[in-house]
Amino acid sequence: MPTWVQLVYLACAVCFILALKGLSGPKTARAGNLLGAGAAVVAVVVPFIYLDLEHVGLIVAAIAVGTVIGVIGAQRVQMTQMPQMVALFNGVGGGAAALVALLELHEFLNPSLPECPPNVSCQFDFDVPWFTLAATAFTIFVGSVSFAGSVVTFAKLQELMTSRPVVFPGLPVVFGLAGIAAVVLGVLTVTDPSMFIGVDLAVVGLVVGLLLVLPVGGADVPIVISLLNAFTGLTVAASGYVLSNVVLLVAGTLVGASGTYLTMLMAKAMGRSVSNILFGALKGGSTLGAGEASDRPVRSAGPEDVAILLGYADRVIIVPGYGLAVAQAQHTLRELVDVLSSRGAQVDYAIHPVAGRMPGHMNVLLAEAQVPYEQLIEMDEINGEFKNTDVVLVVGANDVVNPAAKTTPGAPIYGMPILNADEAKQIVFMKRSMRPGFAGIENELLFDPKTTLLFGDAKDSLGKLLNAVKAL
Ligand code: TAP
Repeated sequence: MPTWVQLVYLACAVCFILALKGLSGPKTARAGNLLGAGAAVVAVVVPFIYLDLEHVGLIVAAIAVGTVIGVIGAQRVQMTQMPQMVALFNGVGGGAAALVALLELHEFLNPSLPECPPNVSCQFDFDVPWFTLAATAFTIFVGSVSFAGSVVTFAKLQELMTSRPVVFPGLPVVFGLAGIAAVVLGVLTVTDPSMFIGVDLAVVGLVVGLLLVLPVGGADVPIVISLLNAFTGLTVAASGYVLSNVVLLVAGTLVGASGTYLTMLMAKAMGRSVSNILFGALKGGSTLGAGEASDRPVRSAGPEDVAILLGYADRVIIVPGYGLAVAQAQHTLRELVDVLSSRGAQVDYAIHPVAGRMPGHMNVLLAEAQVPYEQLIEMDEINGEFKNTDVVLVVGANDVVNPAAKTTPGAPIYGMPILNADEAKQIVFMKRSMRPGFAGIENELLFDPKTTLLFGDAKDSLGKLLNAVKAL
């Protein structure tokens, strides 16, 4: 590899690291994203310049098809569908890495011979180091797991299949057998490689991917997506080793490390362990499901009454949740906050780490409505402020303010840190019905004497509330 190519790859690797750094904060996320994407484009273009590639037409056609699908998909996807889009793109990454590793295995078994000059006897040594074969086996297996698992997560989130855990008698046994088969085939790939074994390993990987994700309940699927993302990263890193491509190695390692870290952070924010999320259904407990709507009496009010509460409050905290994203009410909410601020109230947004259905869901949603970043306050920072707050306006959130997380051992969300909305002087919930949140359990805060419910679609209710506050 020429020195200039190595230098360009080094620069790309540095850009990937800076991109990750940028993505860690809302102010720098856009620039970070562009930097990472730019470096990826450069890394893809470089081999066209320094290598004498075959099948250039086919490669360019494949890139063109992928680009068109990616651009159209990204433009059309709704914010609430983002997790399944990530799952799908991640899955094809893992599948592609597995296919490349299978092709490399074919190449190791049938090496293309360099030309031997006439009248010279040539001897070629084809010994492939065992570690390279092991990395190939790893890529084939984990890439296939990631592909099949991601396809199931996509189907669950897109509601193409039930989002409830799918288990059947004997699943742990089948899972165990598939695991043993994977180890045996992996060892054989190193000691006695053949295409037959490689393809079998890929098939076993697909089965393990299916069995890994089928028992996971809908609420936990985004965490599994992050875990599969980490798997794909490791697969890509291993394929970087097999192909002797430094930039793949670095990018894959970064994705693997950050995906693992994100998985652990999400599990912690939900008060669960990763093993409980993956294997909870197999043990027969801990799966979350849709609960029944409560028929216990609550205090409800119209927009005019809530407008009076808000219009004369000095300190207001907004708790946004999944329902805000569903209603696409972020712009109307920002307008309401602007009007309240102009009336002299101090208003902030309390951001719970797992509000919504994906990491940073609320930050992205509110950034889209041009809410200033300074108004988005993280849970740990704002939790002490609720006791000095006149009104908490909970817009389409439920689990993230459910005191059962602190008070009810055995509840699916027990142990999850929550926003202390219950400490405020008044609490207003905006939701459409008495149905529970994603965890499927009743929220005692809805029945608190300090709580008022404003029923209806959040966008509709916020529009009426905005007019009522303006009319005060
Ligand atoms: P949820 O607890 O799911 O509550 C959402 C609320 O929004 C529901 O009470 C629902 O009640 C209401 N709603 C839905 N559509 C609405 C609309 N159009 N207008 C008004 N209200 C609407 O949401 P949350 O508090 O944001 O908690 C998130 C949950 O997802 C947590 O359990 C979390 O662990 C889980 N989760 C999060 C993530 C990440 S990374 N964010 C990943 C996996 C799981 P109605 O149906 O009565 O309207």
